[in-house]
Amino acid sequence: MQLNKLARVESVILLEGESGTGKTTTARKIHQASIRKNKPFIEIDLASLSEQLVESELFGHLKGSFTGANSNKEGYLDKICGGTLFLDEIGEASLQTQKKLLKLIEEKKYIPVGATTYKSFNGTIIAATNKKLWKMVKKGEFRKDLFFRLMVFHHELPKLKEDINFLEKAIEVEFQNKKIQYQNYHASLSKCAKDSLLAYSWPGNYRELKNMMEYLIVCHKGKIEKADLPINLQKIDPLEDYSNYHIVMEYYEKQYLLKKLKNFGGMVNKTAREIGISKVTLISKIKKYDIKIADIKMEINEGLACGL
Ligand SMILES: Nc1ncnc2c1ncn2[C@@H]1O[C@H](COP(=O)(O)OP(=O)(O)OP(=O)(O)O)[C@@H](O)[C@H]1O
Ligand SMILES: [Mg+2]
Repeated sequence: MQLNKLARVESVILLEGESGTGKTTTARKIHQASIRKNKPFIEIDLASLSEQLVESELFGHLKGSFTGANSNKEGYLDKICGGTLFLDEIGEASLQTQKKLLKLIEEKKYIPVGATTYKSFNGTIIAATNKKLWKMVKKGEFRKDLFFRLMVFHHELPKLKEDINFLEKAIEVEFQNKKIQYQNYHASLSKCAKDSLLAYSWPGNYRELKNMMEYLIVCHKGKIEKADLPINLQKIDPLEDYSNYHIVMEYYEKQYLLKKLKNFGGMVNKTAREIGISKVTLISKIKKYDIKIADIKMEINEGLACGL
């Protein structure tokens, strides 16, 4: 589901994705795009707190409700005031906390630890997980009713390697950002270095990509060649490192078209004729892969092509 639609949701949203795919970033973007943007955005990481602490931090507690509860304490839910509560790592919540979260989501009610009366909750919840919740449901580790409630508005963040166009743009953007940050304005990526970055599997997703761009910019001046990349990136083979059939095919199709367009001087008509497809098909693929003809022509002029 698109972010602008999610920004209209007032109940609960689930963000799923591997570590570093941008769940926290997306939760903040959704909040910023919503009518709640001037209200609080409060984040709680369920993985880092014990069950008792989670409940006392979230729901608040009354004095004397457990050892160490020396005074009444407000919970995050009291402080939301129409804003957004970001519940990170919801898969880590205990079954007891899950039950309370379901009541909170369905009835907008919660009860502080040690209290006997409910309070009303005024806010929107964005939950995030890097676990497969359905698998947890099957193992009895996650409540089915809560799972289905969370799935109504859910958004899955793709792994970086799953979308080659997004990956290419992310490399460009983050490389540029780090150039500016470190004032290394003459740094650039050679074609071969860029191809290796595109073929890498990025298990740490966007976070790893940002760190890698920082490493390259800090450690190198001028043109960065494939040999300047960390050793594991120099040995990338798309056939080995891309597991999905469509990704591999798209990778090679894009490389093929880039090569042919370069061979034929960046001329679309001529390239289409020479490789035996219609001009319309070639143009649609140029759009699909976000191929920049102007860049190809510039590369030809500069004599930078390093061969594929
Ligand atoms: N689409 C994006 N555009 C720009 N930066 C992004 C994007 N997605 C993620 N990032 C950056 O990548 C890093 C990791 O993102 P984030 O912390 O949101 O991931 P996460 O999925 O919440 O990770 P974790 O599971 O470890 O909590 C951050 O520095 C964030 O700024
Ligand atoms: Mg996060």
